[in-house]
This record gives sequence, structure tokens and C-alpha cells, in this order.
Amino acid sequence: MKPLFRTTASAARTLSRPRFQPSTLPSLCIRPTSTMSHSVPKLNDPSLLKTDAAYVNGEWVKAKSGKTFEVHDPSSGKLIGSAPEFDAADTQKAIDAAAVAFPSFKAKTGRERSKLLRKWYDLMVENAEDIAKLITWENGKPLADAKGEAAYAASFFEWFSEEAPRVYGDTIPASVAGNRVVTIKEPVGVCGLITPWNFPAAMITRKIGPALAAGCTVVAKSPGETPFTSLALAALAHRAGIPKGVVNIVSALKNTAEVGELLTTSPIIKKVSFTGSTGVGKLLMKQSSSTLKKLSFELGGNAPFIVFDDADLDVAVAGAIASKFRSSGQTCVCANRLFIQAGIYDKFAQAFAAKVKDFKVGGGYTEGVTHGPLIHDRAISKVDAHVRDAEKKGGKVIQGGQKMPELGPNFFQPTVITGMTTEMALASEETFGPVAGLFKFSTEEEVVKIANSAEVGLAGYFFSKDIQRVFRVAEALEVGMVGVNTGLISDAAAPFGGVKKSGFGREGSKYGIAEYQVTKMITYGGMGQPLQK
Ligand code: SIN
Repeated sequence: MKPLFRTTASAARTLSRPRFQPSTLPSLCIRPTSTMSHSVPKLNDPSLLKTDAAYVNGEWVKAKSGKTFEVHDPSSGKLIGSAPEFDAADTQKAIDAAAVAFPSFKAKTGRERSKLLRKWYDLMVENAEDIAKLITWENGKPLADAKGEAAYAASFFEWFSEEAPRVYGDTIPASVAGNRVVTIKEPVGVCGLITPWNFPAAMITRKIGPALAAGCTVVAKSPGETPFTSLALAALAHRAGIPKGVVNIVSALKNTAEVGELLTTSPIIKKVSFTGSTGVGKLLMKQSSSTLKKLSFELGGNAPFIVFDDADLDVAVAGAIASKFRSSGQTCVCANRLFIQAGIYDKFAQAFAAKVKDFKVGGGYTEGVTHGPLIHDRAISKVDAHVRDAEKKGGKVIQGGQKMPELGPNFFQPTVITGMTTEMALASEETFGPVAGLFKFSTEEEVVKIANSAEVGLAGYFFSKDIQRVFRVAEALEVGMVGVNTGLISDAAAPFGGVKKSGFGREGSKYGIAEYQVTKMITYGGMGQPLQK
């Protein structure tokens, strides 16, 4: 990516700025804020910002080529710092380290692994403010949201530290007299983890937590746009005493495809977990076929968000705000198509647009800012294209609808469009931005059919007070996760994952650990007959 708004300031100068110093850029918001939009954080513990080195075999290492890539603040376009551009040879060293560490880590008891994860969790909680600042800096989300993400991310370590000692097998009645059948759960082996930029902390902990709980060792590829949060987590892993080689975190931007290819073809790696687009997921699956890896993929969504006439309007509006505009629309579970029943359509549109009008858009460190920038100019182009396409085909923008160059290159007004139809791009493509298109529908049957017409099926939401409809629609939606009368469903205790082209496998919950285990069956023969009376 080539940021349009880059300055020539060096990373060192950038880092030495006072805490929350406002820039000279003006603030322009949907509702104007009185403070400036962009600033640079000062970490309580500056050693958590690891630039120019990745974490391999318990050490901070540079790319052998000496190459690095620049990471920019999406709010201002300013340089944050550089991260090492690992290639396949650099990554191979991380894989080798994970392979060496695997036997002894596997041999630890669940209780021992639990204590390590718990220590890492405690350190995340202690350093939550710095983690949040890093998230805001490189991802752009407002600090309050980033604090929420830091807590959400840590919760995966807490959850899986509690699962690690509770890994049970089965005792199975055998069909053959004298045999005894039991199962044990074993770690699958070295895992390759590939994570996205939209949750720089939570997506990596959601994968590393269960992997370590199960006894696996990992090589995690941090996102090219947001490597520093992952590397800060590596620093905390080190402090927590995670044995060397168990957690390796590599970084790459230009070499992302090369690193991804190695992780999916290496015979040492036994499992790959990926969160990202359906297109990349297909490629990684193809590459993984040569070594028949265990896979779990959390891919794109196009979430239907349905409001029935009998819904509580306020609850539905609040749910839509939360689901559609969380992280400025940049989550895989964000509502993408909002279907509102005819009888409540106008009232909903009005109340919803009024709330959106109240958002404060700006730099993530600015007090009172509710919504930050998008990640880069390509995201802005896609959002803009969806809005223009909807307008061209008869949609009416009732709120927002424009870029906000006054704030920076990556800002777009939170937008509400009415009169949406299924011919519009937004109906079939994931926008991944702050645009809510409202479709009108008449019957339950009709809306379920349209909702299910998507090729993907990650999350779906609906609002209704009719208990029979609640069960009927929840069961009819072709998605992996359903929110009923709520727009927020993410929880370390709940299984996260999709169906259709949204992928397979579950993260979080008691199911999440199974993705990193194999069930071994042991038959003990010649054990004799039960005692006769
Ligand atoms: C995602 O966007 O993939 C994750 C969202 C979440 O965990 O809530």
C-alpha cells in the first residue's frame, strides 16, 4: 500500500512526540468535535513497540536480507515504524524452531500449559492500555474500541488456560469381547497461523490460545498492515516464560504470499488456521492439499440483518448500530445487508440515520471520537464504489455518503442508504466499511430466501418478539452464527465460524481447542471377560 498522506517524519521523531499530541490537521466529523483528530501515543512501556525485528525461537531477529517494510498510521498516513520483511528462508527457521520445541511442549501437563497461558493473560491485562494504544495506532479504531479489543483478545488466553487441564478422552464399549477401547486427545503438531489486520490482537490470541492449550507450537504470520500489536504480544509471551520456539511471530508485507505458501506446503506444519478473504482461503486450501493439512478457515461474510415488524424498534436500532458500525464496518461479522420489514421500514430508517448522524469521526485517540478511519485507500475505494453504484441504481443516501479528505486519506462518512435492491453491488459483495444499505421486505419467507441466497454464511442477525419466529428463523438461516435481538455475538466462550464459502472450523469455546487436536483411539486387546457371578 502506498499511503497518500505519508509525511517524511522518521519513526524516531514520530515516537518521541508527547502523549496524545494533536496534529495540525483539522477535525471534521459528522458531528464536529472540538478536538484534533490525529495524534501519536506514548506507551507506558515503550519496549513493547518492537520495530525491525520479529520473534523466532525466543529471540528478536531481523530478516536475513535486512529488508523491512513501513507501517503507517491509517488516520494520518504518518510512519509508525518498520517491521522485518521475512522471506521463506527466514520463516523456515521459525518452523524449525517450533518443530524442535514441540515434543517437550506436548509432554507438559495441561495444568503446566494452563499456568503459562494464565501468566500471558495476566500480562496482557497489566499492559492492556499499551496494547490498546498500539491497536489504535496501526489499525485506526478509536481507543475505547481498542481497549475493548485488548480485553477481548486477553479473554481467549483466559478461556483456554481454563480448557488446557480439561482435555478428556472417551472410554468406549468395544464390539469385540475382551477388547477395551479408549481415546486420548493429542496436539496436532506445529501450526501455521495467518491473521488479519482488523483485530490486530484478538485474531492472533483466538488462534494461539487453543493451540497452546492443546500442546501445539506455532508460527504466526502477523498482518502486514498491523504487525506491531502481534509483536508486542510476543514480547509479553517472552516475559510470561513461554518456552523458546513454542510461539514464533513473523512479519512480511510484500512477501506475504511467499510466507503463506511455505506455511501451507511445509511438511512440518500439520495445521493451518487462517482468517481472511474467501479468495485467499481457496488458494491456501489448494496449497495445503499437497500435505493434507488439518485446516480451519474463517473467511468473508455478507451478514443479513433482519428487522421484523414486531421487533422492539430501539433494540433493533441499537443492534444495527453495533453490528454495522463496529470498527467502522470492518469486521467479518458486520451486518452487510439490512432487511427491514415494510411496516417498520420508514420509522427504522429515520431512527437509525439519526443515530448515525450523531457519530463523531476522527483520529482514534481523540476524546469523544466514536468511529475511526478505514485501513487504507483500497478500502475507501471499495466503499465509495458501493455507494456510487447504489445511487446509480436508484438508492437514496439519507446520511453521509462521501469521503472525508479533510480528516485524512482513509476517512469515509458513516452512511445510510434507503431503497436498496438486489441488483446493487452491496447486495452480493461484502462492503467492509461504514455503509448501511436498507432493503425493504414483505414476508418472512421472502427475507429468509434472500438472506440465504448469499454464497457465504458467517453471521446473521434478526429482531423479533415472536417466540415461534425466533426459533424458526434462527434455524432457517444458513450461517454459522445467529444473533437474535442483539448485534454483538463475539465471546471467547461461544463458537465462532461459518458455513458455505465463509469457511469451516470453530474458534473460541470448547470447540475451539478440538481444531488443534487429533483423537487417537487405542484398543487394548485380550483384556478378558467381565467377572461372572
Ligand atoms: C472478524 O472480523 O473476523 C472477527 C470479529 C469478531 O471476533 O467479533
